[in-house]
Amino acid sequence: MSELDILETSLMSEITAASDEQAIEAVRLSALGKKGSVSEMLKTLGAMSAEDRQVKGPVINGLKNRITEALTVRRNELRDAAITTRLAAEKVDVTLPLRQAPAERGRIHPISQVIDEITAIFADMGFSIAEGPDVETDYYNFTALNFPEGHPAREMHDTFFLQAAEGAAAKVLRTHTSPVQIRTMETQKPPIRIVIPGKTYRMDSDATHTPMFHQVEGLVIDKTANVANMRWVLEEFCKAFFEVPSLKMRFRPSYFPFTEPSLEVDIQCDRSKPGEVRFGEGDDWMEILGCGMVHPNVLRAGGLDPDEYQGFAWGMGIDRIAMLKYGMPDLRAFFDADVRWLSHYGFRPLDMPSLFGGLSQ
Ligand code: DAH
Repeated sequence: MSELDILETSLMSEITAASDEQAIEAVRLSALGKKGSVSEMLKTLGAMSAEDRQVKGPVINGLKNRITEALTVRRNELRDAAITTRLAAEKVDVTLPLRQAPAERGRIHPISQVIDEITAIFADMGFSIAEGPDVETDYYNFTALNFPEGHPAREMHDTFFLQAAEGAAAKVLRTHTSPVQIRTMETQKPPIRIVIPGKTYRMDSDATHTPMFHQVEGLVIDKTANVANMRWVLEEFCKAFFEVPSLKMRFRPSYFPFTEPSLEVDIQCDRSKPGEVRFGEGDDWMEILGCGMVHPNVLRAGGLDPDEYQGFAWGMGIDRIAMLKYGMPDLRAFFDADVRWLSHYGFRPLDMPSLFGGLSQ
């Protein structure tokens, strides 16, 4: 075997053995690089006689061409193999289920859901929404609502007082949403038909009471509003909210400083199955709200003449009716911000409550 044949055999086996593009490049340099074995042979042609060159020239160039060709073929093979491996590694199974988008994964808190349900029902009856501040003055929270200074009814509310500035009266965290009745009368001319959802605060904490809770207040003022209108509004609301076709209500006399007469409303329910309350059936009763005809002193405080205007109002605990409607046993869990609780009891964000769409579906 000539020297050339030995070189060719050895280069060819190196080319075959190269397992990646880096290895093939190393073989190329060792053969065809500046100081490569084949390049060195080509250099010897210059020093040869013309006859020798005529014989050796084609032989050495032939070797160079075959090696070049073999390098190209092997490099392409390796490149294809690398792409195939990468494609396999990066394969995406398009038939796998998609991860839920954030808008689908998120959940609406039951309180927000119930506020949306309540406002949808009252909006359908022509009410608008009013809001007021959580930090209230004593005047709006009590005095304007006909709680005279030193009146024992103020004690019913377990009020949180804020630290007062020197010589100023202490502000309070509102104990109910009723102050917004006065704020609305001050700025809107009757007829007034509003609902007031919002946060309220009292020093109280157990399975059914939290220091911060939610109420929704209603207020209707015009020249003829009366108890019969109030009864109809409340009955329509309860049927729509509890999603039952009929429901008995019971009105009991009560006392609130800001209404005269004052009433408490019970609704018909069935509590015969443990851990379950069904509304609109059975012969048990459950208290659900307080209401009454707006007291003349409250109308006056709102800047209205009680000889010209009259109205009715009611107030209801949102957290309580949310617990009743959706069977949640402990109110404190509402405000623990535990995502496991929220993903169990929460509502899908794009299912907005509406009367035509079905409130809670
Ligand atoms: N503000 C009352 C409370 O927190 C609830 C209430 C009762 C509101 C009767 C009213 C009403 O507007 O008429 O206990």
